Amino acid sequence: MTKDPYKIVAKIYGHLMKTISYHEWGKYISDLKESYYSEANSFLEIASGSGKLAFYLHRIFPNLVLLDISKSMLSLIDKDFKRVCADMTSIPMKGKFDFIYSTFDSINYLMTEEALQQYFVEVHRVLSDKGVFTFDASLENNSLKNVRRLNRKGKFQNILYVQKSNYNFEKKTHSNKFKVKLESGEIFEEVHSQKIYNFELYFELAENAGLYVVDCFEAFTFEDASGDSERIQFIMKRIDAKC
Ligand SMILES: C[S@@+](CC[C@H](N)C(=O)[O-])C[C@H]1O[C@@H](n2cnc3c(N)ncnc32)[C@H](O)[C@@H]1O
Repeated sequence: MTKDPYKIVAKIYGHLMKTISYHEWGKYISDLKESYYSEANSFLEIASGSGKLAFYLHRIFPNLVLLDISKSMLSLIDKDFKRVCADMTSIPMKGKFDFIYSTFDSINYLMTEEALQQYFVEVHRVLSDKGVFTFDASLENNSLKNVRRLNRKGKFQNILYVQKSNYNFEKKTHSNKFKVKLESGEIFEEVHSQKIYNFELYFELAENAGLYVVDCFEAFTFEDASGDSERIQFIMKRIDAKC
C-alpha cells in the first residue's frame, strides 16, 4: 500500500467513479471524433486523471498525449502512455493537435473566469487549423440534482472514506470533501472544488480566444442542449477555420 495520501485519494476517487461506464464514454468521444474530424491523427486528452478513458481510446487515437495537473493521478497510468504533468491553463506543448478532448467536468476545476479564459487561449494555441476541441461542463442543475447523493461513505481496500458534498448557491462553487481513514488509523482529507459557470459564458470566452461553438449537446447524446441542461458536451473549432 502506498503512503502517498494524494495517491490514496486518487484511488478512492477512481473507485467512486466506477459507476461511470468509461467504455460507453470512450465510444461517445470516438463518435464525436468520427462526426467532426474523422481524419484526425494527433490527440490530446486534458485532465486525463488516472487514464481510465485513455485505456479505451489509445488504440484508436494514435499519438495520444495525456495531460493532468496531478502527479498522483498520472502515476496510476501505464508507463507506456505519453504523460505530461501540467496545468491546463499553461499547456507546455509547441506542436498542434487535431483532436483535443477533456471529460468529467474537468473544466469546472478552473475556479475563476480568468483561468477559464486562459484555458481557451491555450487550447486555441495548440489546436490544428481544422482541429476539434470537445469537453463536457457541469451546469447548476447538475449540482442541485446530485448534491445530496454525493454525501456518502464506504470502504475500499480496507480504507474507510466519507464524501461530503456542498453546493454554494451564492458563490456558484461545488465542493467535495474526502475524509479517508487507513487501516493504521491514519486520517487525512482532500477537498475538490469546482466552479459552476453560466451556459452563455462558455460561448463568450471561447469567442474571445478565437474559438466558436459548432454544437453543444446534452452529454452522451447528439441532442441540442440549453442553459437548463445538467451536463453539456461542447464541440468547438477555430473561428479562422470557418473562412
Ligand atoms: C473529475 S477528474 C476527471 C478525470 C478524467 N478526465 C476522467 O474522466 O476520469 C478531474 C481531473 O482534472 C484534473 N485537473 C484539475 N485541475 C487541473 C488543471 N488546472 N490542469 C490540469 N488538470 C487539472 C485533476 O487532477 C483530475 O485528474
